[in-house]
Amino acid sequence: MEFTQDVKRSTDHIYQKISKVMPEIEWLVHAPYIDKINKLKKQKNAIILAHNYQTPEIYHGVADFSADSLALAIEASKTSADIILMAGVHFMAETAKLMSPSKKVLLPDMNAGCSLSSSITGKDVRLLKEKYPGVPVVSYVNTSAEVKAETDVCCTSANAVKIVKSLGVKKVIFLPDDYLAKYVASQTDVEIISWKGICVVHDQFNKKEIEDIRLNNPGIKIIAHPECPPDVIEVSDFAGSTSGMISYVKDNQPKKVMMVTECSMSDNIQVENPNVEFIKPCNMCPHMKKITLPKILDCLENETGEIIMDKETIDKARISVEKMAAIGR
Ligand code: 13P
Ligand code: SF4
Repeated sequence: MEFTQDVKRSTDHIYQKISKVMPEIEWLVHAPYIDKINKLKKQKNAIILAHNYQTPEIYHGVADFSADSLALAIEASKTSADIILMAGVHFMAETAKLMSPSKKVLLPDMNAGCSLSSSITGKDVRLLKEKYPGVPVVSYVNTSAEVKAETDVCCTSANAVKIVKSLGVKKVIFLPDDYLAKYVASQTDVEIISWKGICVVHDQFNKKEIEDIRLNNPGIKIIAHPECPPDVIEVSDFAGSTSGMISYVKDNQPKKVMMVTECSMSDNIQVENPNVEFIKPCNMCPHMKKITLPKILDCLENETGEIIMDKETIDKARISVEKMAAIGR
């Protein structure tokens, strides 16, 4: 793939935007892919949905829509494209398929999983329901379709508290993120039965690290994802979904900020918030990072990595996602 004058002409406006977070030498490698992918998208009437954790060349270069898990699920139900390519992980692609079963949904790397999603199976949920009969099951959207099919209502980090409160019950089974379950319990009077799943990215942060950063950076705002351990959230100024964190920075324009989450978020957001200084001790999601421009191009060209599910699972699992979407953020 060559960086030609044609490529330069069609991609220069993107580089103007992201040059602060990307050295030119890297851009010369990415730009030919960006050009080709964007042309192919039009030819095939395809849309690329990207999670906020994707790298800047994907987030700013080829994504038609980038957002948190909740907005991605809702957007997937609204698009008129023939093909949805998910620049994200497997559960996100599955959720897009649930919301748009008649569309072709593609994932550039089928091994892009999630430690939360792989921590629980449909059988585990059936056993829990036997143990706690009549207790509603709320599952994080970071689960397989098989788990969603056993679930009453899904949630994301953006609406977990609202969803649990909306049920109006004293006890819920909340799966599979133990830390998010603890966060929800701290914000409601509902008794939460949780599962021992963790996000491998957020579990690596610790309270001492956050306190040291605050000490060394007077006035810094520290904003954390609710998948972090509870003591990390306690010493942070704000907790919210990835989009909630982005809005916090946009609205408050702190002089210095640390986003306690996946690495790419700060780079992506730096572009639109040039006056904010980002302190970046961050952790990388090994699954999100499996998605690259060459894999996106190959997936779109050859229509590989299609999400296939049986109709029964789709029909059962979709109900729990639709209920979540109806309740909203
Ligand atoms: P949200 O974008 O919903 O906050 O999710 C974070 C996450 O870990 C997705 O993998
Ligand atoms: Fe899963 Fe955590 Fe990676 Fe999100 S960041 S995909 S929750 S492992």
